[in-house]
Amino acid sequence: MFRVTRRYTFAASHRLHSGELSEEENRRLYGKCNNPHGHGHNYVVEVSVRGPLDGATGRAVDIAVLDELVQREVVRPFDHRNLNQEVAAFASVVPTSENLGFEICRRLKRNWKQVFPGEWPKLEKIRIGETARNIFEVRADEIE
Ligand code: NI
Repeated sequence: MFRVTRRYTFAASHRLHSGELSEEENRRLYGKCNNPHGHGHNYVVEVSVRGPLDGATGRAVDIAVLDELVQREVVRPFDHRNLNQEVAAFASVVPTSENLGFEICRRLKRNWKQVFPGEWPKLEKIRIGETARNIFEVRADEIE
């Protein structure tokens, strides 16, 4: 069994603000991330897959196929977007990196069999680097 991780980047803006909290609670909880006009991040998304090596190719995953999926489902819909206003999933869900991780993982899982119809490779996890110091990780088999 082999594990392969591929790194992607996109830039997006967001505002951390929960409709379930008061203005004051939002300011206290999210601090400057609650700034009404938003702020941006250069997100780094790492997608990890696992599978046995294919005897003929010596590879565990066709990177070009993975790239096409991640570009279509993640990079193109999110790059240079305001996540709160331009991504439907975040219309009423706070676009924290945790929720962004769930959304990215769900999108990849939902479309996985379409591009990888065989038993392997499987999606293992995704990691999101929001800043150099904040890394968020979601395991595909731990979400619905
Ligand atoms: Ni932020």
